[in-house]
Amino acid sequence: MNKLESIVDERANRRSFLKNGIAAAGAVTVSAGLLSNGLSALGADQGHGSITEGDAAVLRFLAAAEILETDLWQQYTELGGVTAPASAYQTGLQQLDGDMPQYIADNTDDELSHETFINAYLMSKGAKPVSLEQFRNLEGSQVTDIPGIASKKRLTNLMQLSVDTSWWTRYRSDNQNPDLGDTFPNAVPTLATGMFTAIPRNNTELAIGVTTVPVNNHIQAIANTAGFHFAFIEQGGTSLYAAMAQKVSNLEVLRVVLSIGGTEIMHFQTWHDKAGNAIPLTDGTLVFPDLKNDIPQPESLQSNLIMPEPTVFLSKKFPVCSIIRPTATKNVAMGAVNAFTMDGLFINQTPDFFEFLRDLANDADQAQRGVND
Ligand SMILES: [Fe+2]
Ligand SMILES: [Fe+2]
Repeated sequence: MNKLESIVDERANRRSFLKNGIAAAGAVTVSAGLLSNGLSALGADQGHGSITEGDAAVLRFLAAAEILETDLWQQYTELGGVTAPASAYQTGLQQLDGDMPQYIADNTDDELSHETFINAYLMSKGAKPVSLEQFRNLEGSQVTDIPGIASKKRLTNLMQLSVDTSWWTRYRSDNQNPDLGDTFPNAVPTLATGMFTAIPRNNTELAIGVTTVPVNNHIQAIANTAGFHFAFIEQGGTSLYAAMAQKVSNLEVLRVVLSIGGTEIMHFQTWHDKAGNAIPLTDGTLVFPDLKNDIPQPESLQSNLIMPEPTVFLSKKFPVCSIIRPTATKNVAMGAVNAFTMDGLFINQTPDFFEFLRDLANDADQAQRGVND
């Protein structure tokens, strides 16, 4: 049994968990045989607490997304979180907000709780949990000044990112919506087209014990990259959950998806605010524009416009509305896999990994509300 499964088991077995009604709501008894058979035991005739195969497929894809989120957030926490030693990298993050190390640690905790909860919930319904442990083979940061980092194997790669920053202009538009076919320019075009690290790859890029400001230009560029990457990841989660909610059948599964999805929105909102404080700089081909002070700043870039601008929704015949965007459901899971892939998160991952993830995405994309398959 791998570590994740043992955590899930431990949580699932806790009496407090059983008492809170999630497992007690008509769930079937989970046996080892049932788990190994996956969804075969799920059906519409299992009473009030049963979930459909579509519900399980949605939750399984979300579990995988949360495992990947946890993996990347753990890397940020180890190098720049509140328990990481003071360094130029951490100081660079604090130029975006003094509380960045705390927020990074909290976001990491949230993702781990999402992953663990969804897997425990799946098991309580007789469905198979998701593990990606067999794909934990990537090299991460080779920093040795913090013990234990260089030897850890990762699921995600944070060192060759092409960060899409079009969420910035998408949420500032008052007359366009990706669900109506519109596309949006990047706020930091060079970040979207190159390959950049968002974490220190070695001791020099970490610079442990160095807290002087201004931070070394290259290290500040790494911290700025992280700042925009945080928001990119969490706006993805925000849209993913809003779309998935429309595909589930069981009311309790809807509650799970809405309740977790709401925290992804909180994450995104926080990081959206912080990214606007990225220090303007040029580091080789990477250019961070001044989003705070450039005058005249077009409204599409103005850094204090962090609330979603009301825009067209469903149809241009309706009045504009302040909304999450996009929220269309067609191929949303595969879209998330593709967006993460284009981000560079999976560079050096194996064909088996992509096959596994695409299978989960395909199953989730086929889920339809009200279909008891
Ligand atoms: Fe999450
Ligand atoms: Fe998240």
